[in-house]
Amino acid sequence: MPEVAAATPPVPAGFNANVDWFVHDRFGLFIHWGIYALPARHEWVRNRERITEERYQRYFDHFDPDLFEPRAWAALARQAGMRYMVVTSKHHDGFCLWDSALTNYKAPNTPARRDLLRPLLDAFRAEGLKVGLYHSLIDWHHPEYPVDGLHPQRDDLEFRERHRQRDMAQYVEYLHGQVRELLTGYGRIDYMWFDFSYPGQDWGWSKGKGRADWQSERLETMVRELQPHILLNDRLDLGRGIKTPEQFQPRRSTPGTYQLWEACQTMNGSWGYDRDNLDWKPASLLVRMLVDGVSKGGNLLLNVGPTARGEFDPRSRDRLLAIGDWMRHHDRAIYGCGQSAFSAPDDCRYTQRGDRLYLHLLAWPFRHVHLEGLAGRVAYAQLLHDASEVRYHERAEEGVLTLDLPVQRPDVLVPVVELFLR
Ligand code: GLC
Repeated sequence: MPEVAAATPPVPAGFNANVDWFVHDRFGLFIHWGIYALPARHEWVRNRERITEERYQRYFDHFDPDLFEPRAWAALARQAGMRYMVVTSKHHDGFCLWDSALTNYKAPNTPARRDLLRPLLDAFRAEGLKVGLYHSLIDWHHPEYPVDGLHPQRDDLEFRERHRQRDMAQYVEYLHGQVRELLTGYGRIDYMWFDFSYPGQDWGWSKGKGRADWQSERLETMVRELQPHILLNDRLDLGRGIKTPEQFQPRRSTPGTYQLWEACQTMNGSWGYDRDNLDWKPASLLVRMLVDGVSKGGNLLLNVGPTARGEFDPRSRDRLLAIGDWMRHHDRAIYGCGQSAFSAPDDCRYTQRGDRLYLHLLAWPFRHVHLEGLAGRVAYAQLLHDASEVRYHERAEEGVLTLDLPVQRPDVLVPVVELFLR
């Protein structure tokens, strides 16, 4: 019979100090914001449409986020129940949101005329959220970043030829130098989220890049020296760090093993603002994805791609508000919770924190749900959103406890029954 125990096994050696907040908080906001918000056709637009440096410049020249109110972003994230955020300091196009001394390709030189990162970090900290930086290892703007098969101008043979002698060592110095800037000039950073390594890629005329190219060990050492408490994701090609399945919900965590993971998910398939994309997930699905992750011992980092005027567009905002509504009533089935040793019935997920077991009903059954192994184990049961009693009966011989549910499905995105274990 499964033990009623803490759902999260102890932290093994190898992970640095404080992962507790990360495991506890479970839900974060990812923000992809840069000059790709102007074309509004996905943050890979330069790559996909093979846009030259010269032509891409128009977005730099017109970036004027006049409605940017970082405190409003932070307040909304908090209202949605998010406890941390990760924002793009630089994406693959090389555009920097902060006032880097190492480049001119930065927000202060656009019509925005200011460092956009600092007020953002300050606002989120003021709302009590932990802050993290997404930083692209790839850089399609830097003059020494080797032109490879991912580069926007990969098909321009003349361009390729002209740029054959690029010096990765110089780029690496820039990469490390910028990370040093970010980790020395911007206060406490809780999470460093590098993106991404592609060592296996081989286009014949060029190859992908991995730890040797980024000098990942040295980078990681520097990061830890500058901010010893910091958490790192797994994309430096070092085989360690927080696992970050992308637009993918893992099948399961292996019970009893320690796995630090976070699924990063979009609301509509794009990370950057993508005006005409209609693949919006309903808020109910986003909540189910959050629940699914926590039931498997993982986090959800849910993305927003703000507009070039500096706002969350209404489709994102509405979803965050709806999630926040659910979280207001159900956050204790999320924070501090993890995987349960009990197996949930069909169409359900369990999350657990100590002696509280949460049954999330992804589909509403007619009247009854049978809980294997729970006969004799439950002291009390209630619907979580309104604390109304849920009566039950038990069949000791079978070990089954059967809940008596109302016929009417509660009008919340995912109804939850809170079970007080003995
Ligand atoms: C990627 C992409 C990307 C996005 C992301 C988030 O691999 O290149 O545009 O930022 O990861 O996980």
